[in-house]
Amino acid sequence: MRDPIGVAFVGAGTVAEMHGRGLAAVPDATLVGTYDLDAGKARAIAARFGGRVFDSLDELLADPAIDAVHVLTPVERHAAHAVAALRAGKHVLVEKPVAQTHTEIAELKAEAFRAGRVCMPAHNYIYAPSVRRARRLIEAGNLGKIASLWILYNIYHSPQAAAIYGGVLRAVCTHHAYSLLYLLGRPRRVTAAASRVHDSGAGCEDQAMIVCEMEDGAIANLWSSFAADDPTSDPWTVVYKILGTNGGVSYSWNEAQFTDDGGPAWGMPCYEESFAGEIDYFIRRSLLGGESPLSTLDDAADALSILMAAEQSIFNRDAMTIVRFENR
Ligand SMILES: NC(=O)c1ccc[n+]([C@@H]2O[C@H](COP(=O)([O-])OP(=O)(O)OC[C@H]3O[C@@H](n4cnc5c(N)ncnc54)[C@H](O)[C@@H]3O)[C@@H](O)[C@H]2O)c1
Repeated sequence: MRDPIGVAFVGAGTVAEMHGRGLAAVPDATLVGTYDLDAGKARAIAARFGGRVFDSLDELLADPAIDAVHVLTPVERHAAHAVAALRAGKHVLVEKPVAQTHTEIAELKAEAFRAGRVCMPAHNYIYAPSVRRARRLIEAGNLGKIASLWILYNIYHSPQAAAIYGGVLRAVCTHHAYSLLYLLGRPRRVTAAASRVHDSGAGCEDQAMIVCEMEDGAIANLWSSFAADDPTSDPWTVVYKILGTNGGVSYSWNEAQFTDDGGPAWGMPCYEESFAGEIDYFIRRSLLGGESPLSTLDDAADALSILMAAEQSIFNRDAMTIVRFENR
């Protein structure tokens, strides 16, 4: 019997809790340790999920017991931390958005190839069993010709929480963009609108809509909002819906909910299950089984392209102003 895969976390903030829970559910892996600039946060993760606290990134990367590193730092540090881990011979699971530029993603791809190691984007939403089922049904042709895709996200974040995440475009629509790529492929054209309902002080949009025209006539609608929850009888908290000429599929995070003050969506088991599916796939199917991940660095680059096109559309203000009909 082989030793379990040794894992380390770089970054011990909010998302590390979900990685800790996901990793704890994988029997073939163990958390060797955590490094964070804030040692107190690393200690908290070690207390909850085991392993030691490293004093520096170099010390962590020099530990031969570590096979894989989860990069859980802010996006500005992703590429540097992932490249360092790959150069140290570690496999990498890197949080979304993988990077801020295509150059950084290309560098990661080259380093992973050179090192012969897996560098998997942590595109957790597509590892949910229901999303994978949707793709199977689309691929098998069960839904007929796809007409529309809807990914809707309405989870209120206080202005303070929203300020930490920045705007919804990069923070949340990244999930929508890679999910669209996984389900329907690359769009041909993109238009977008964004607005600010609450002022977080960071000057960022807290709502955004991206409309993607697909090659074959389908239209994908990607909506994200930190501005308000949906308390109605058919809530669009997080909903995926794909409609085709022969059928449709939907998936909702409202399947189960409870009150958990830990963080946005922590009381939604679908959210936690997406991390569990992602980490299980990374460890057992990719690292131990040799299978390619469902999420790739090419997807990360295409997702970034979608977001940049959306940002350009918003910047250009290419929406038409309504002409008022005066003769009433
Ligand atoms: N997949 C998801 O659903 C999901 C959800 C939340 C966040 N995220 C992503 O996870 C990443 C982290 O987000 P978060 O919410 O945990 O943020 P956070 O601010 O709560 O945590 C980031 C941690 O990184 C540490 N850090 C910063 N610079 C560092 C450095 N140079 N070396 C070591 N540690 C450093 C900070 O001290 C902090 O503890 C972001 O990229 C974010 O987009 C993904």
